[in-house]
Amino acid sequence: MNPVDIKIRCQAGDPATRGAYKALLLPLFQGAWGRSKIHGLVDKWSEIKPRDMVKSQEIRGDFKEFTILHLKKGLPFERVLLIGSGSQKEFSKDRVRSIAAKAARTLRKIRCTEMVIIPDCFPGLEPAQLAQAVVEGMILGLYRFSKYTPDKVRAEVTPSVLFLTEDSAALPALKAGVRRGESVAHAANRVRDLANTPGNLMTPRILAETARGLSKHPSVKVTVHDEKVLKKKGMGGILSVAQGSDEPARLVVLEYGKARKSVPHIAFVGKGVTFDTGGISIKPAAAMHHMKYDMSGAAAVIGIVDAIARLDLPVRITGVIPSAENMPSARAYKPGDVIKTYSGKYVEIMNTDAEGRMLLADALTLATESKPDLIVDLATLTGGCVIALGHIASGVMGNCDWLCDRIQQAGNQCQEKMWQLPLYSEYMVQIRSTVADVINSGGRPASAITAGMFLKQFVGDIPWAHIDIAGTAWIEEDTTLYIHKPYLPKRGATGVGVRSMVTLVEDLLAVSGGSGEKLRKQLKVQ
Ligand code: BES
Ligand code: MN
Ligand code: ZN
Repeated sequence: MNPVDIKIRCQAGDPATRGAYKALLLPLFQGAWGRSKIHGLVDKWSEIKPRDMVKSQEIRGDFKEFTILHLKKGLPFERVLLIGSGSQKEFSKDRVRSIAAKAARTLRKIRCTEMVIIPDCFPGLEPAQLAQAVVEGMILGLYRFSKYTPDKVRAEVTPSVLFLTEDSAALPALKAGVRRGESVAHAANRVRDLANTPGNLMTPRILAETARGLSKHPSVKVTVHDEKVLKKKGMGGILSVAQGSDEPARLVVLEYGKARKSVPHIAFVGKGVTFDTGGISIKPAAAMHHMKYDMSGAAAVIGIVDAIARLDLPVRITGVIPSAENMPSARAYKPGDVIKTYSGKYVEIMNTDAEGRMLLADALTLATESKPDLIVDLATLTGGCVIALGHIASGVMGNCDWLCDRIQQAGNQCQEKMWQLPLYSEYMVQIRSTVADVINSGGRPASAITAGMFLKQFVGDIPWAHIDIAGTAWIEEDTTLYIHKPYLPKRGATGVGVRSMVTLVEDLLAVSGGSGEKLRKQLKVQ
């Protein structure tokens, strides 16, 4: 797992006099040549004036339009990447992320080793926001899953980035934005690596060992429970799924900032099914290979804790990752089986392919024991959520509308879109059992919601939200997202969850002023 190797610097200076840079990234908005000082200089430096090219509509500034202008020798820049940025009104952080990704990929392709960004030519964005979006876009955009094809990428160059500003007072904000962008984007790329890794090389044991690596942060404590501990604790949900596989189950607990007393305490739980065949209720062969990404929730929790630890945010986080492989075998759990979960509740198995909620049931109960202020779980839980929202938005459900709102807002802020689905009590009818407390599958109607209703049984009275990322954790080339957002891969794992959940944690810190008590006053369980 090689992180995108990119060097980023921030300096104060006058671009007109410093000289000898390889490339300048310059945004061009629809309709008119830009008014910044550097736009004026580039126009002056060019033999064929870009201002005239805009006038004659040879270039238009449409979003993601791309023009490379070469300048004469002796000028401060060898070339200018003129990037169409759409209308000024629609300009946003997400567009910057996209533009930066496209620029970084293009530079890599043309073997250009350096890019200069002058914050003053991006109107309407604070330096910190701009730097963060650029850095996220570049690091996410340059990502490639290359574990098994190292030769292909060895010969490539990664461009370095220089933020150059005439306003030296802006340097601290730029540097803070760079740091935040790096932390979040590298963490998201790690999530992608984990989810892209095939099932034979990403077993529950390997996933747990990877999570153990987070103890490199002094603020993170990692505990890995093996199957013996799970048995002793009576975690029948996790064990029943794992019992059909030769790969033993694991349960990882991550603790960040445990010693902090009065700060908000947030628990994240992530589904870690390293491969989901469906078990005895086996899945059709056609798309089964995709089920290696059924541990994307677990990977996201690893990435979230990693990013929060890198950023040293003043919170307490508990991460819980239950992991198993769902296989059919003579020992596998079967439809009709009744399983005693860690909570003491009995579950009747209707469908062994509804395995994620069995893992999550035990993990959620465990999460409640640490008495967090709130719990968020992330899981590739249902095909029904993919049918409902496609690959564009994750499904959000929960027992606290205030929390669901905040999650949707955090998602909007960083363009990991979320949409709330209702947990009306009427849906309970679909998961009633005659022989146990609940059944594990409510059938096809509203299957994303009945999965949420199932989980709700295991969180007690703690404010909780469930995010179904089945559609957003993975994209194929024909799912159009890449076209809108070139910082996402063309195909494969997206790393969803890191950006939105880090934003959520920061938002919760802001609204509570960093006080757990104040946060608890906002949260209400319905
Ligand atoms: N891992 C799947 C859900 C899934 C489907 C994720 C497609 C990503 C893409 C989950 O374990 C599953 O099989 N869910 C079943 C539940 C059903 C049996 C109630 C489903 O959605 O079909
Ligand atoms: Mn399944
Ligand atoms: Zn699954």
